[in-house]
Amino acid sequence: MTGTVQVFHGMEDVAAAAAQRFSALASQSCAERGAFHVALAGGSTPRRLYALLATPAYAEAIAWDKVHIYFGDERCVPPEHADSNYRMAHEALLSRVPVPATNIHRMAGELPDAAEAAADYARQLQALLPQQDGQPCFDLVLLGMGDDGHTASLFPGTTALEESSWTVAAVYVDKLSAWRITLSFTAINHARHVLLLVTGAGKAATLAQVFAPGVGERFPVQRVRPRGRLEWLLDEAAAAQLPDEARS
Ligand code: 6PG
Repeated sequence: MTGTVQVFHGMEDVAAAAAQRFSALASQSCAERGAFHVALAGGSTPRRLYALLATPAYAEAIAWDKVHIYFGDERCVPPEHADSNYRMAHEALLSRVPVPATNIHRMAGELPDAAEAAADYARQLQALLPQQDGQPCFDLVLLGMGDDGHTASLFPGTTALEESSWTVAAVYVDKLSAWRITLSFTAINHARHVLLLVTGAGKAATLAQVFAPGVGERFPVQRVRPRGRLEWLLDEAAAAQLPDEARS
């Protein structure tokens, strides 16, 4: 696996480290390019990160009017649904900081046709994101990893893994009996920066295999290889079975 690996005591420390990186990258992007384009993740650790970013220390330090919010994946539900990644981010962060509503770009999980929602979001990314080498480029993509090695909604064995022409894919996940909308690896890997947040003992065995030498590409998360920097932020429980050489 590529990228740097940092191990923290628990989920709270991972969220705190991620909040510091988010804030520093936002300052840097705004200073260098006048804006910060970030794709948010679903999941439990990101929720804690978002809550921290809404506290005064971060809420007052970040130039929210220059922050543009996108989503790495979404469940095919309306935005007010309990499973919606947008709803989670809105409740924990977006409703609590002065980010302009026009800077928030959510995936339309409520559309009956997930492929149409994916194509629509791909067009939005093309129009809204700065281009780098002819492709839309995020300043930061936040990701998690499922215990099956999925990231965003790029699940093992799904066609979305091979999506190379579109930045956004619709994917039917058999084991969930549900459609999802997700950034493709093409979009993720064009980012300037990726933070991968993984916490909890339930992820330890998969993470050890992801980092095992010579394992090849068995898990979707192993295809995260951004042109920019990849940082893994782990807690001790998730990192418990990591080979020593994986820790940077
Ligand atoms: C989602 C995600 C997904 C998530 C992982 C890890 O919408 O479910 O974006 O990829 O990041 O499943 O989730 P946890 O951090 O909750 O384990």
